[in-house]
Amino acid sequence: MDLDSKASDRPLDPRCLLTPEAGNSEGKTFQDTVGFPVAVVLPAAGCGERMGLSTPKQFCTFLNRPLISYTIETFERISWIRTIVVVVAKESYDQMLQVIHSFHHTKVKVVEGGTTRHRSIFNGLQAFHESTEGPSLIRPKVVIIHDAVRPFVEEDFLLKITLAAKEQGASGAIRPLVSTVIATTSEGYLDHSLERAKYRASEMPQGFLYDIIYQAYQRCSEFDFEFGTECLHLALQYSGTNAKLIEGPPTLWKVTYKRDLAAAESVIKEALSLSACLISGTIAETVALASHLQKNLAANSMTVDVYQSATGNNELLSKTRNFIQISASEESLLEISEMVKVLEEKNHALLYPVVIVWVVTFCGLKGIWKKENTDTAF
Ligand code: CTP
Ligand code: MG
Repeated sequence: MDLDSKASDRPLDPRCLLTPEAGNSEGKTFQDTVGFPVAVVLPAAGCGERMGLSTPKQFCTFLNRPLISYTIETFERISWIRTIVVVVAKESYDQMLQVIHSFHHTKVKVVEGGTTRHRSIFNGLQAFHESTEGPSLIRPKVVIIHDAVRPFVEEDFLLKITLAAKEQGASGAIRPLVSTVIATTSEGYLDHSLERAKYRASEMPQGFLYDIIYQAYQRCSEFDFEFGTECLHLALQYSGTNAKLIEGPPTLWKVTYKRDLAAAESVIKEALSLSACLISGTIAETVALASHLQKNLAANSMTVDVYQSATGNNELLSKTRNFIQISASEESLLEISEMVKVLEEKNHALLYPVVIVWVVTFCGLKGIWKKENTDTAF
């Protein structure tokens, strides 16, 4: 039986891609709940063998942006996360700096990785310790470890992981197993199978009290560094800390194969397509059309906000990347070019593509006119 048939592997509210910080039902922001320093380590030094491309998967691009930038952005927009350490292979160091520069990431420190994931994570953790290379970053109370190739983790789940780590010393996301796990004999026959309902897949993110995971890595063996895959296990074995396990949403999936890149792109496109701002103007005819359109789009699960004018209205920029300007004459082309100017000045098309649809209602030029340029389509 599928244990998870109702849950989707897309964010519960895809609009979360565009909204800044969330809060809980009592109006308390998550920032209020987390009163201690939290940092993130994103291991990103793998070569993506299973992807089968010459570019490591974290640098593969969709919608004009590398995967790693989406994951960084996910953490960067969370105000209670102070520092993001990204661990990359030596040969990708400059490329990573370029990504940070191009997409205006601000909380990121880049560290060189190792030959295995555990070595890379340990290098990331060491960035919070004094070294001969210079002063360390401020040591966090809780450190979240998250694969750089899982771009869709949501803030409320990160909060659960963080608070459980603070309380218990370690915490990790789990998911129901998709398939039954079996052991094989050396000759390739069935040895035994595990009872699927008893086991869980260990996923990311995981959270730790910094001192606990750092100590575990200091104490662990070369064998662990080379062949280990489970940070929670290191915390148990070398720091005596039993992790709290929390069932995570299906959105935590990891980009592993080529098809996952296409899936990640479609999740983002879907999220973007769910919101729009309608700019109605003030003429009765255009206002009526805007109201009609709003109802129709809402019936298709879109959130549509209506404004009379885009000029001087910065609020609408925080809501969407899709704008529909309704005009009664070609004259409002001036208004559109003003809007494009503001969008460009605010770098609104830097992270996600922007679409502007201009609807002119007067006879002779009825319909939607579309033109593309590099960053902005309208
Ligand atoms: N990772 C790392 N350092 C390594 C190996 C892996 O930082 N030496 C990182 C990857 O970049 C990835 C995460 O660990 O973000 C999870 O690893 P995985 O999905 O296995 O990525 P790859 O090792 O790159 O892929 P593959 O196993 O297919 O080669
Ligand atoms: Mg790997």
